[in-house]
Amino acid sequence: METKIYTKHIILLGPPGSGKGTQAKRLVERYHYLPIAIGTLLREQIAQNTPDKATLERYINQGQLVPSELSFKFVKQQIEQHIATHTLLLDGFPRTLPQISLLDDLLEQYQAKIGLVIFLEVNRETTLLQRLKKRSSIEGRLDDQDEEKIKTRMAIYQQQTLPIVNLYNAQQKLYRVDGEQTADQVTQAINAIMDRLL
Ligand code: AP5
Ligand code: MG
Repeated sequence: METKIYTKHIILLGPPGSGKGTQAKRLVERYHYLPIAIGTLLREQIAQNTPDKATLERYINQGQLVPSELSFKFVKQQIEQHIATHTLLLDGFPRTLPQISLLDDLLEQYQAKIGLVIFLEVNRETTLLQRLKKRSSIEGRLDDQDEEKIKTRMAIYQQQTLPIVNLYNAQQKLYRVDGEQTADQVTQAINAIMDRLL
C-alpha cells in the first residue's frame, strides 16, 4: 500500500471567542485531522499538577501569553508524535511572529509546512465578550471570568496576533471566514474551502 506523507498542515486563527475550538472539533470529525489546541494542552498541565503548573497559571489566569518557549514545548511534543501519521490542525499556535519561526523551523525538519490558515474574523468586541461570558458559566475557565481578563486577551490579540494574519495573507495561505455567523454557517463556509482545496 502506498504510504501517505503528510506535508501540509492547517492553522485555525482568530480572536478569543471567535470559534476556533468549536470549529476545530467539527473539522476533526469530518476530515480526521489531528488537533493540537495549545490552550487545552496548557490547561491540562495545570489540571495534572505538573511542575509547570504555577508558571502557567500565573500567565493564563491573567489572560497573558505564556512565554513562547513553554507553549512551544507542548506543541513540539504533539507535532513530533503525530506528524508522520496525520494532517495537523493547530488551534492557538502560532500567535506571534516569533512563534511562526519556531513552528516553521520544526516543520522544515520533517519537510512539512503550513498549507493553509483559516481566519475566523470577528471584529465586533461585543460579540466576543458575550460569547465568552456565556461560556464562563458553562466551562468555568478562570480567564473568562472577568471582563478585564478577556480584554487583556483581546488587546494581546490585536497587538501580537493580528500581524501574523498579514504575513499569512502575503504568503497567500489565508482564507477568511466571517466568524459572526452562526456556528453552523461558519462550519459550512470552512467545509466549502476545504472541499475546494482537497
Ligand atoms: P486559548 O484556550 O486558545 O483561548 P483563546 O484564544 O482566548 O480562545 P478561546 O478558546 O477563548 O476561544 P475560541 O476561539 O476557541 O472559541 P470557542 O470555539 O471556544 O488560550 C488560552 C490561554 O492560553 C491564552 O490566553 C494564553 O494565556 C495561553 N496561550 C494559548 N496559546 C498560546 C500561545 N500560542 N503562546 C502563549 N500562550 C498561549 O467559542 C467560544 C464560545 O462561543 C463557546 O461557548 C462556543 O460555544 C460559542 N460559539 C462559538 N462559535 C459561535 C458562533 N459562531 N456563534 C455563537 N456562539 C459561538
Ligand atoms: Mg479555544
